[in-house]
Amino acid sequence: MKNKPAFAQTVLFAIGLGVMLLGSPLFSQEPAQEVTIDPEDCGNAQCHASILERRYVHDALEDDCTTCHESNGNPHPTAEGPEYSLSEDPPDLCYSCHDENNTRSVVHSPVEDGDCLTCHDPHGSPNKFFLAYASIDSLCQDCHDLDFQELPVLHGPVKAGECTSCHNPHESDTQALLQEPKPGLCFSCHSEVEEQAGMATLHPPFEEDCQDCHEPHGSTFPSLLVEKVPTLCYDCHDDVQETAKTSPVKHSPVFDKKSCLNCHSPHSSNVETLLTNSQKNLCFECHNQKIKVDGRTIANIQKVVEQSNYLHEPLESDGCVVCHQPHGAPYAALLESTFPRKNYAEPRVENYELCFGCHDSEMMLAPIVDSDITDFRDGRRNLHYLHINQKKGRTCRNCHNVHGAERPRLIPAHVPFGKWEMPIKFQFKKNGGTCQPGCHEALTYERD
Ligand code: HEC
Ligand code: HEC
Ligand code: HEC
Ligand code: HEC
Ligand code: HEC
Ligand code: HEC
Ligand code: HEC
Ligand code: HEC
Ligand code: HEC
Ligand code: HEC
Ligand code: HEC
Ligand code: HEC
Ligand code: HEC
Repeated sequence: MKNKPAFAQTVLFAIGLGVMLLGSPLFSQEPAQEVTIDPEDCGNAQCHASILERRYVHDALEDDCTTCHESNGNPHPTAEGPEYSLSEDPPDLCYSCHDENNTRSVVHSPVEDGDCLTCHDPHGSPNKFFLAYASIDSLCQDCHDLDFQELPVLHGPVKAGECTSCHNPHESDTQALLQEPKPGLCFSCHSEVEEQAGMATLHPPFEEDCQDCHEPHGSTFPSLLVEKVPTLCYDCHDDVQETAKTSPVKHSPVFDKKSCLNCHSPHSSNVETLLTNSQKNLCFECHNQKIKVDGRTIANIQKVVEQSNYLHEPLESDGCVVCHQPHGAPYAALLESTFPRKNYAEPRVENYELCFGCHDSEMMLAPIVDSDITDFRDGRRNLHYLHINQKKGRTCRNCHNVHGAERPRLIPAHVPFGKWEMPIKFQFKKNGGTCQPGCHEALTYERD
């Protein structure tokens, strides 16, 4: 069944021949005086002492040498007694005491060839496992090109030369001789990542194969990544790349160094869409302060929200992304539909798609309304129409803060008017309200 190495058959248990054939002087003594061979005493000082003088000696040598060697009938060249050869060739010799290690579905080629002695010294060695090499990686390197060892980022166990922490040197049921299938193999050292596998949302490639994103040995990129983020992510999410690159309005965290990892976990999360924090809190990680950009100042939205007694319902129930596109958007303020960010705009529905996607546009279009259209009316006269539906129509932001406000109906104490924070001085009444903003004197409306 197996190829028995021919060379092993010629091995002779003989000093002179050993010196000549193998070039390793086993004897320090002059072979002048004749000795009589007692198999229990082959390892004595005069003969093969060096075999027993190794840091790790094969336990099989505890009994006499004839467990593996036997007389071949010829005279011993240097001593009185028979010449010895192997009683059996490896690997059968080894398998007479050790379990066969060539029975699983993937067998390492040298093991399949019965070539135990390329890697092991049958007697012992200065190295553990009687290895014929000073270290495991130098052993592997003898037959394998380990280019990856030149890479700037090396995996911990590769750096330490511990190839066998992941590869079985003999056989395996997993391809590439892995000690255990992935991801169990990886989890055996990365228990913190194993915990992430218990979270509510798992990224499909994380469940499928860590190697979609990580190199097992070494890489040019941090965290052993096969590519740097976001290129790595764009390989599978080209739609997001398209949005990020082509949207007229960009969101800078998508383009900074952390990129996608500002907001997403690459592995798993207890929050939808692999977010690293609940959605609102995620946005507040950065929007918890004013941000200066292109000569203007973006409001501290967390402060607005926290100081508001009344929040816009979609913000409260669905968070920020009902209105904002985190990756990039066609309209200012990362909005996915139109909304005038100035104080004046023409009263066309196309200018207010965002608001009228959820609210009835009749509030802007109909001069006379019933109670179901708006409460901002004097009798049936629609005061939304009055303010908005003019050539120089006043936009919603003159009276509302879309995120939240101190008073009901999203009416804040003041609104931005150029550089001026214009006070609104609005008072609710049972049947209407009174308003004395920066732009006109106190006026009152009554619905009934
Ligand atoms: C576990 C089996 C085993 C035992 C026990 C064993 N040998 Fe060997 N021995 C081998 C094998 C296998 C080879 C062939 C090595 C090769 O081809 O490189 C060998 C080769 C040799 C050789 C020739 C090549 C060399 O390595 O120098 C000598 C000498 C030798 N053995 C001496 C001994 C002595 C002395 C003992 C007892 C102290 C002993 N052996 C016990 C397996 C064994
Ligand atoms: C006569 C029985 C016998 C034979 C034949 C034998 N071994 Fe062993 N070997 C042992 C014993 C006993 C041990 C120590 C207990 C153990 O670890 O299994 C051992 C240990 C080993 C170890 C080290 C295990 C460790 O955990 O450190 C290696 C490697 C090894 N043998 C390789 C071989 C190879 C290769 C051959 C064939 C050339 C071979 N053995 C032949 C009995 C044998
Ligand atoms: C490609 C090199 C290589 C070959 C070929 C090889 N071994 Fe090993 N063997 C190793 C290494 C490396 C270890 C140490 C494993 C570790 O670090 O856990 C080892 C460990 C062992 C051990 C002790 C641990 C165990 O797995 O039981 C035995 C016994 C053993 N080998 C026997 C054999 C036998 C018998 C053969 C031939 C059929 C053989 N080896 C062929 C590299 C090899
Ligand atoms: C004596 C030469 C030799 C040594 C030493 C050796 N290998 Fe191999 N190895 C081979 C050959 C031959 C193959 C099969 C051809 C190939 O796939 O490159 C192979 C294949 C492999 C494979 C791929 C198996 C697969 O299914 O893709 C891995 C992994 C491997 N070896 C790891 C190791 C490790 C780890 C070591 C050190 C413990 C080692 N090898 C030492 C010769 C060797
Ligand atoms: C952290 C685990 C791990 C360590 C440590 C490790 N490897 Fe690997 N190795 C792998 C994985 C995973 C594969 C790829 C398996 C696959 O593609 O399915 C692999 C593949 C290989 C292959 C197959 C050819 C290839 O590159 O795809 C060889 C050869 C190999 N490793 C050798 C080594 C050597 C030599 C060492 C020690 C310097 C080592 N490995 C250390 C996990 C490891
Ligand atoms: C034998 C233990 C062991 C196994 C198995 C193992 N790793 Fe590691 N891994 C380590 C060590 C040690 C480090 C270095 C830790 C450090 O530097 O803090 C590490 C680091 C990493 C890193 C971070 C690198 C960085 O630069 O931050 C990644 C990613 C990684 N491993 C992925 C994997 C994957 C994927 C697998 C399975 C194919 C795996 N590991 C299997 C021990 C292991
Ligand atoms: C979709 C790509 C992707 C997949 C699939 C993936 N990772 Fe990661 N992994 C990353 C990225 C990106 C980082 C860097 C995270 C950072 O820098 O915050 C990372 C970091 C790590 C780290 C180091 C930091 C940490 O979180 O401890 C380890 C270890 C790790 N991954 C292991 C794994 C294991 C094990 C698997 C498979 C079960 C896996 N990864 C699958 C992309 C991935
Ligand atoms: C190997 C392909 C692959 C890579 C690489 C990859 N992903 Fe994914 N990702 C998927 C698949 C498949 C899905 C599930 C289907 C979908 O939503 O497109 C997914 C889903 C997602 C989701 C949505 C999850 C949900 O619950 O809706 C996010 C967010 C995500 N990936 C982010 C990332 C980030 C960030 C990276 C880079 C670190 C990345 N992905 C790299 C394949 C990949
Ligand atoms: C500023 C935070 C943030 C950044 C940076 C970010 N995302 Fe997202 N991403 C989100 C949020 C929030 C959602 C959920 C959107 C929703 O539910 O409508 C999301 C959804 C997704 C989805 C699933 C739905 C979809 O839009 O396809 C994918 C895939 C995704 N992101 C990938 C990425 C990738 C790839 C990157 C890096 C280029 C990235 N994200 C950068 C916040 C971010
Ligand atoms: C990692 C920090 C970071 C996170 C997390 C973040 N942002 Fe931003 N965001 C910024 C920065 C910096 C700017 C200003 C530069 C720019 O326009 O991209 C900005 C700008 C914006 C703008 C545009 C404001 C304007 O007037 O131009 C909106 C809207 C916005 N972010 C919404 C969100 C939402 C919604 C989330 C949560 C899904 C979020 N951001 C998460 C850093 C972040
Ligand atoms: C109902 C839709 C809606 C929701 C929900 C919403 N926003 Fe906005 N957001 C807007 C509109 C509209 C603007 C533009 C306001 C303006 O120009 O007056 C805006 C503006 C912004 C700005 C820019 C402010 C500035 O001063 O330029 C940021 C930052 C922002 N939103 C973040 C958030 C965050 C964070 C959340 C979730 C906590 C959120 N938004 C929820 C509609 C919304
Ligand atoms: C995703 C749907 C949605 C969008 C988009 C939306 N709203 Fe709302 N809005 C609601 C809901 C739901 C309520 C609470 C029920 C109601 O009053 O209709 C509400 C309530 C309001 C209120 C009254 C608050 C109260 O206390 O009753 C105002 C004012 C308001 N929205 C203004 C706006 C403005 C201005 C826009 C455009 C920037 C807008 N909304 C966009 C869904 C939306
Ligand atoms: C001149 C100030 C002003 C402007 C401009 C304005 N609103 Fe109002 N809005 C109000 C007042 C005041 C109320 C509260 C009426 C009440 O409950 O007595 C209100 C109430 C609302 C309500 C609650 C339901 C209702 O109609 O009573 C919604 C929704 C609303 N406004 C949306 C908008 C939208 C969308 C825009 C821009 C297209 C807008 N508003 C522009 C002052 C204004």
